[in-house]
Amino acid sequence: MIPKVFVTKKIPENGLKLLKKHFNVKVWSKNKAIPKKDLIKNVKNADALLCLLTDKIDKEVIKANPNLKAISNYAVGFDNIDIEAATKYKIPVANTAGVLSHAVAEHTIGLMLAVAKRIVESDKFTRAGKYKGWEPMMFLGHCLRGKTLGIVGYGRIGSITAEIAHKGLKMNVIYYSRNRKKDLERDHKSVFVSLNELMKKSDVISLHVPLTKETKHLINSKRLSMMKKTAYLINTSRGPVLDEKALFHILKNKKIAGAAIDVFEHEPNITKGLKNLNNIVMTPHIASAALEAREKMSEVAAQNIIDILKGRKTKNLVNKEVLK
Ligand code: NAP
Ligand code: GLV
Ligand code: GLV
Repeated sequence: MIPKVFVTKKIPENGLKLLKKHFNVKVWSKNKAIPKKDLIKNVKNADALLCLLTDKIDKEVIKANPNLKAISNYAVGFDNIDIEAATKYKIPVANTAGVLSHAVAEHTIGLMLAVAKRIVESDKFTRAGKYKGWEPMMFLGHCLRGKTLGIVGYGRIGSITAEIAHKGLKMNVIYYSRNRKKDLERDHKSVFVSLNELMKKSDVISLHVPLTKETKHLINSKRLSMMKKTAYLINTSRGPVLDEKALFHILKNKKIAGAAIDVFEHEPNITKGLKNLNNIVMTPHIASAALEAREKMSEVAAQNIIDILKGRKTKNLVNKEVLK
C-alpha cells in the first residue's frame, strides 16, 4: 500500500511534486485554515502529516492517530505542536530549520531600518498629500552605525542578523542566549551579557528565541521599562515572547523610540490601540516570505517526510528521543 500524506494547505509546488513521487498526497485546498474536526478526520486517515505553524497539533489531534509515522512542520518554530504528546506515541516531528534564516534576518534588518528611519510613517504622510516641502526637522529618526544591537537568542537567525548588522551597519553586538557562543563572539565581535544588561545597554533589541514555557513573556513590562528612551524593539520570533499589552503602554507613553514586529501575541488579532500608534511598524508574520526561502521550506518539509518514512536520518528531527 502506498503511504498517505495529508497536507493542511497548498504550499509551493516543488515540495508537493516531491511527495507525489512516493506517496498518495491529499492537500486541504480550501482558502481558510482547516477546522479542527477536518484536521482530525484527515490525520486519522494518513501515514504522515505536513502542517503549518497555524495548525494546532495538540494532544487531541495526535491521539486521533497514534500510528502516524511523521509530522513535518512547514516552519522552523514548532510551538504549535505538542512535542511531548508526539514523543509519547513515538511520532517523529521535523521542521525546516536553516533554509529560512537569511530571509528572516533580512526582514529583521528591514524592520529595524523601517522604524529607525520612520519609513512607513513618512510613506503614509507622503501618500496623504501632506508633503509641502523639505524641512530641517521633519521625521527625525536615528542612525544605526556604531550603535549597540542586543540579540536575544543567539541561534541561526539571531546570529545572521548580528552578522549583517555588524559587517554592514557597523553596529556593536551584544547578546543573551541560553548558552555562550564563543565562535560567534569571535566572528561578529559580540559580547555575552545578562538579559537585564542587554535591555539597559541596547539601542536596538531584536528577539530570536523560540516560544517555550521559559520564553513566554520573557520581555515583560519590567524588562521593557529598562530600555533607553531612544531605543527600538524588534520582534520576528513569536508574539507571546513579548507582552503585547505592555508594549502598547510603553509605546503610547513614548518611553522608547519605537518598535517593529512581525508576530503577535494572539495572531491574527492585534492588541487594541496598537494600530493607532505611529511609533510601531507591523508586518503580518511574513519574515520568511521570500520566494527562495518558501521553495526551500517546501522541499525540506517534503524531504523530511520521505526520509522518515524510508527509515533514513533527517537532521531536522525535533524530538530526537523517538529514536531511542
Ligand atoms: P535557533 O537556531 O534554535 O535559535 C534560537 C536561539 O534561542 C538558540 O540559540 C537558543 O539557545 C536560544 N534560546 C532558546 N531558549 C532560550 C531561553 N529560554 N533563554 C535564552 N535563549 C534561549 O532557532 P532559529 O532558527 O534562529 O529560529 C528562532 C525562532 O524564530 C523560531 O523558533 C521561530 O519561532 C522564529 N521564526 C519566526 C519567523 C517569522 O516568520 N517571523 C520565521 C522563522 C522563525 P542556545 O543558546 O542554547 O543555542
Ligand atoms: C515561521 O514563523 C517559522 O517558524 O518558520
Ligand atoms: C539633502 O537632500 C542634502 O542634499 O543634504
